[in-house]
Amino acid sequence: MPPLTDRLKRPLEDLRISVTDRCNFRCVYCMPKEIFGTAFQFLPRQDLLTFEEITRLGHIFADLGVQKIRLTGGEPLVRKGVETLVAELARIPGIKEVAMTTNGSLLTQERAKELRNAGLKRVTVSLDSLNDSTFQIINDVDFPVLRVLEAIDHAHAAGLSPIKINMVVKRGVNDQDIVPMAEHFRHTGHILRYIEYMDVGTANGWRLDDVVPAFEIVAAVSAHWPLDPVAPERAGDVAARFRYRDGAGEIGIISSVSQPFCTNCSRARLSPEGRLYLCLFGQSGYDLRALLRGGKTDTAVRGVIERIWTGRQVRYSEERRQDTVGLPKVEMFRIGG
Ligand code: GTP
Ligand code: 5AD
Ligand code: SF4
Ligand code: SF4
Repeated sequence: MPPLTDRLKRPLEDLRISVTDRCNFRCVYCMPKEIFGTAFQFLPRQDLLTFEEITRLGHIFADLGVQKIRLTGGEPLVRKGVETLVAELARIPGIKEVAMTTNGSLLTQERAKELRNAGLKRVTVSLDSLNDSTFQIINDVDFPVLRVLEAIDHAHAAGLSPIKINMVVKRGVNDQDIVPMAEHFRHTGHILRYIEYMDVGTANGWRLDDVVPAFEIVAAVSAHWPLDPVAPERAGDVAARFRYRDGAGEIGIISSVSQPFCTNCSRARLSPEGRLYLCLFGQSGYDLRALLRGGKTDTAVRGVIERIWTGRQVRYSEERRQDTVGLPKVEMFRIGG
């Protein structure tokens, strides 16, 4: 069967599944506390896709050409028993890898081993600073840096490598940490990725002035340790890669604002309540749960997804303008980045 492609000839290869809209952090750029306080209503359990429903969709997406699945949230490890889901997904024919993006707060030694045994290949751990006061200003729940560093060690010991470390860079908040983070992760085998702060959702009050563009980040790091560009592993990858000339490893830069990468975007996203989004900056998505719970066959569901993907032409970051920033968009914690 020829690969399923959208209107811009982009294949469907990756599925990012958000397993919960809940998180134990309140990062200022994602779930600001003023909005997502104790009164905020997260999705009730019956609205979440069950593991069986997610697995069923996993099979259907694999049939359509998906090879990589990434579990996200919110914080995916908040969802009880997520290891069981990993095991089910890892078993699907055609799925080459199941990975996870986590804040690391719940990644104990035991949990890391369980995830690995269940078939998880790799984790990406978010960490925005090595300085406790900066990190706590960002996570807004007083979570210490050391515990995230320990989680990275647990993941490494369990074999969930190579580990990627995501650092969202926000001007005036943690840009002073660009070089210390590079220094810390050089020679560790972990891949530090700097992420330009993006206008995802509407709750974070994003302004262009808050973005530190990729060229500035590369200049800051290479002033200390010269870098050479490296070819991407796959055409659809989000990060531009650079290698330290002295052999200390590599870093990545995810520059959705200054150098968008929609041309090769092969990612579909599934929200916790089973809506299919064709872009991180989508508005409402397509309700797949209604199909699953309405008794549709796998063939019928597959046909619907096929039609949705074939009609896809979104390329938000390439079309970003001042007047697109305020459009209604799904929040990051519902769709997992
Ligand atoms: P691998 O390539 O499998 O290692 O993972 P990844 O780079 O997809 O993983 P991760 O979830 O850690 O993504 C890194 C960052 O890139 C996150 O902040 C995402 O929000 C951002 N990102 C991922 N995919 C897209 C995308 O399609 N568009 C935009 N604009 N940003 C994305
Ligand atoms: N801009 C860029 N990255 C973000 N993330 C969350 N919100 C934003 C944003 N507004 C990152 C998280 C995590 C990944 C899934 O997305 O820090 O590493
Ligand atoms: Fe939680 Fe990740 Fe959002 Fe931070 S960025 S609040 S860790 S989901
Ligand atoms: Fe894909 Fe949308 Fe990101 Fe562009 S902005 S790379 S289309 S998810």
